[in-house]
Amino acid sequence: MTNPKRYLITSALPYANGLKHVGHLAGAYIPADIYVRYLRAQKRDVVFVCGSDEHGTAIPIQATKEGTTPRAIIDKYHEAMKQDFEDLSMSFDIYHRTSEPIHHETAQEFFTRLNNAGELETKETEQYFDEEAKTFLADRYIKGTCPNCGSDRAFGDQCETCGRTLSPDELINPVSTLSGKTPIKKKTTHWYLPLGKHEQFLREWILEQHKDDWRSTVVGQCKSWIEGGLQSRAVTRDLDWGVKVPLKEAEGKVLYVWFDAPIGYISATKQWAIDNKKDWKPYWQDKDTKLVHFVGKDNIVFHCIIFPVMLKLHGDILPENVPANEFLNLEGDKMSTSRNWKLDMRDYIIDFVKKENGGGQCVDMLRYYLTQIAPETKDSEFMWKGFQDAVNSELVSIFGNFVNRTWVLMHKLCGGKVPQLHTGILDDNDKILIGEIENAKTRIESLLEQYKFREALYEVIDLSRKGNQYMQKKEPWIVAKKLAENPEAQKSIDNTMYLCLQLTANLAIFINPFLPNTAKSMLYMMKVVDKLLDWENAGKLKLLSTGYSLREPQLLFRKIEDTEITEQIEKLKSGLKQMEEPKKEETKTESVVKSEIQFDDFARIDLKVGTIVSAEKVEKADKLLKLSVDLGFETRTIVSGIALHFKPEEIVGKQVTVVTNLAPRKMRGIESNGMILMAEDKNGKLQFLKPENPVSPGSNVS
Ligand code: MF3
Ligand code: ZN
Repeated sequence: MTNPKRYLITSALPYANGLKHVGHLAGAYIPADIYVRYLRAQKRDVVFVCGSDEHGTAIPIQATKEGTTPRAIIDKYHEAMKQDFEDLSMSFDIYHRTSEPIHHETAQEFFTRLNNAGELETKETEQYFDEEAKTFLADRYIKGTCPNCGSDRAFGDQCETCGRTLSPDELINPVSTLSGKTPIKKKTTHWYLPLGKHEQFLREWILEQHKDDWRSTVVGQCKSWIEGGLQSRAVTRDLDWGVKVPLKEAEGKVLYVWFDAPIGYISATKQWAIDNKKDWKPYWQDKDTKLVHFVGKDNIVFHCIIFPVMLKLHGDILPENVPANEFLNLEGDKMSTSRNWKLDMRDYIIDFVKKENGGGQCVDMLRYYLTQIAPETKDSEFMWKGFQDAVNSELVSIFGNFVNRTWVLMHKLCGGKVPQLHTGILDDNDKILIGEIENAKTRIESLLEQYKFREALYEVIDLSRKGNQYMQKKEPWIVAKKLAENPEAQKSIDNTMYLCLQLTANLAIFINPFLPNTAKSMLYMMKVVDKLLDWENAGKLKLLSTGYSLREPQLLFRKIEDTEITEQIEKLKSGLKQMEEPKKEETKTESVVKSEIQFDDFARIDLKVGTIVSAEKVEKADKLLKLSVDLGFETRTIVSGIALHFKPEEIVGKQVTVVTNLAPRKMRGIESNGMILMAEDKNGKLQFLKPENPVSPGSNVS
């Protein structure tokens, strides 16, 4: 869908049962915010909605934990999450809540329409009932052993250890979390959405129509759901917290939280329309609207299968894409609220943003690092050292340094004003830089349109790196020394500074969707208004006019000190809760196995044996080696993080196993085309995986 009339962008509605961590932020919020800011810079008609998900058993359970009411819980966490998002420069057009009457009405209307059209089924089943508490046990009120990974902390709806979606019946040794007793079975009636009836539609819509434009991880998950057989899903629950089922015969029942929550996107749009005197309907009903849901991978099935079926039955538009992210780990371990192994958005805000040397630049530093490590195609890792490196050696030393040098030199060599461009004397270096500025727009745009935010951000930083290299080649400070004998040299200085200034203006436009506070500081230094950041200005070379005087330089980013990160690591370790895990030894080996995949998933990985023909250290990266690997049909460049384990000269001639169809990735400016497989022992020592006897390069591994 190119150039739709309007966009509706959503970020998953977080549960109002606790503070959210940076894994959530990287998964469903920052990417959406980048995309929306880019669309706004393009002057598109876009509405960005989010809000708190205030239903489900998670809320009353948290209330019991904190000794208060569900209402008090949602009020507390709604406000807290809203504030945290604001503090981190999230730019929702509305941050709504599902406890609002307008949402209850919208969700009930939705249910009624589907039910009246005969699209829902009712079924009487036996469900777990707690005799002591005299209540049916929905989802999280029931705990037991996971049939998939053996963890004994699985809930009735999902195992958080392995991520598998469960039904209470699948749990081994179920117990009630209310009384701790084994529940009995009792008859109850519920309303079901028969997904099986929509298999054909889902197959065509996802597996054919969207097989190439959706992320392969998303299509893969949908595929295994569809192939696994689509069961009818209950859309009601026996519970007294939630949206009441609008039927007389359904006393004491509420809509299942996953039925009402995504409808929250619609009610949020309605409220936004009321507040802004707009019409909400086209955003959900007109085919010329591009709907995009940003979510984490545990939300894929709800946004790609269940909600779309609901939307189709209700007569609404379907999402164009669901760019789901994988998970973010923290310092080598899964983030977990129960073990307190996490970095809450709030903690970062207190420790960095609200500190004396914090503010918008610290917001942007986090946004930068989380985008740079975004788990777009696989799980990734938040490391405090990585955060420090990203800030100090990229934001400070490359981007910030370029802008700062430009400003200092412009004040020194051009009197604080934008100089003239003398087109007659442009040299090759000038022309190359002009080409880079002009090309960057198309490249960054195309990456953003494909939701490849990490690569898009890389391009922006790379452009500033090119600015530094250009400056280094032109050396205007050396040219200036010869001015006395050759006054004509001022023209060359003018050209250099003119181009560096126009590049800075372009960098402000490009960085704006990612780091909006940085773009603001740059506008201030350039003494120009927001209008400059319009996307149509990107790639242009006359953004700052000759003769215009500019402000004094300001540092865009500060360095992150060693002490700051050691403090954070200490804090994390000392806060870790030792879980009372009786079966630790046995479950350990099981839970280190990743969740099950299908043969097809495996078969998509192309593995071949290659021979290392050369190896060298990558400059300024102590962990990286740049390898050339002969694969028979071609020789590939592969960058591998093994420099601390092997000397380059030792490994030339060795055979290795290579993942050959991994998407290329740039590391320190070098494009890496593949990955070398390694075995890692307990002590972290690495060894190559290779055939027992040498084989010819390019041999398949299967
Ligand atoms: N509250 C859910 C979660 O945190 C997400 C709900 S997304 C919505 O996983 F679409 F249902 F709103
Ligand atoms: Zn499990």
